[in-house]
Amino acid sequence: MQNYIKEVRQFVEDHATGIAVVTVAGVGLVALRRWLAGGVCRSSARLDGKTVLITGANTGIGKQTAVDMANRGARVILACRDMTRANKAAEDIRQRSGNGNVVVKKLDLASLQSVRDLAKDIQENEERLDVLINNAGIMMCPKWQTEDGFEMQFGVNHLGHFLLTNCLLDLLKKSAPSRIVNVSSLAHEKGEIHFDDINLDKDYCPRKSYRQSKLANVLFTRELASRLQGTGVTVYSLHPGVIHTELGRHFWPEMALWKRVVFTPFLLLLKTPWEGAQTTIFCAVDESLENTSGLYYSDCAPKEAAPQARDDAVAKKLWEVSATMVGLQ
Ligand SMILES: NC(=O)c1ccc[n+]([C@@H]2O[C@H](COP(=O)([O-])OP(=O)(O)OC[C@H]3O[C@@H](n4cnc5c(N)ncnc54)[C@H](OP(=O)(O)O)[C@@H]3O)[C@@H](O)[C@H]2O)c1
Repeated sequence: MQNYIKEVRQFVEDHATGIAVVTVAGVGLVALRRWLAGGVCRSSARLDGKTVLITGANTGIGKQTAVDMANRGARVILACRDMTRANKAAEDIRQRSGNGNVVVKKLDLASLQSVRDLAKDIQENEERLDVLINNAGIMMCPKWQTEDGFEMQFGVNHLGHFLLTNCLLDLLKKSAPSRIVNVSSLAHEKGEIHFDDINLDKDYCPRKSYRQSKLANVLFTRELASRLQGTGVTVYSLHPGVIHTELGRHFWPEMALWKRVVFTPFLLLLKTPWEGAQTTIFCAVDESLENTSGLYYSDCAPKEAAPQARDDAVAKKLWEVSATMVGLQ
């Protein structure tokens, strides 16, 4: 034993600089990872007897949000396009939360008919809707169109949710106090609404389209909050952080191999889906937000959205254009 301690001491003395560098780097990395993980929703609010609908809840942030809502006792509706994946996720959520009241309903946001069908089903069969979480999203896909001929990212991320929300407003109002949470992104900061070419027919760029759709989420939140004043329905938009999910499925495989090799170690610094769900959960349940509406959040705290996302005239115009596009009176 004496010999062993002596050897360890000798090793430390011989490699003092190396050990110091590794320790500082290790502590630094852990601290950086903690910082990147962002805020955590500390609310212990229960949702027994309440109903939460989450779009795109079969994977990623949406699924983690669903687990949390189920843990709080809510009836959770997973609104998803792929029923096989959704049923698998629902079973997993039931098992992890011990809450059997987790159901799956079909929703393809790339089809206005599918949105209307789901809304009709909810209106006819659900007694209440306390929280609507517009989470589903598609990022940087090729130039695709929705069933109705809209550019895919704008159609799914904004127009589908715009129509769904509007169709469910009566039930949300009936269930007030109730909340609508729109999952946007920091990407909105570089976004612009291209009213002269909203489907980007003339100049399609996957990044430009994603940014436009995420800016639309923040502007929609703002205008909706203003229209819902006095109803008891409050609205929030948010940036969830940068999270390791399936969102990169359309651009990651297309990237040059060397870029993927360079970026792979950085994946370790991304938030986990649980960490990424925290701001959504905060907006859905935290008591401190009861009397606030229309704002943008990041890391479980309010954050000022980009100037173009605070432009009420643009928000109003976007509402009118969107209403015409989806055929809303
Ligand atoms: N991950 C990030 O770093 C990050 C950063 C900022 C913002 N966000 C936002 O966070 C939200 C969730 O993203 P995520 O990271 O969890 O991505 P994800 O793992 O790719 O999950 C996206 C979800 O949306 C669903 N979806 C896609 N197209 C749909 C459609 N046409 N109809 C219905 N559902 C559809 C997907 O269903 P399928 O599985 O069937 O495709 C999936 O359930 C998105 O709005 C995204 O813009 C994410």
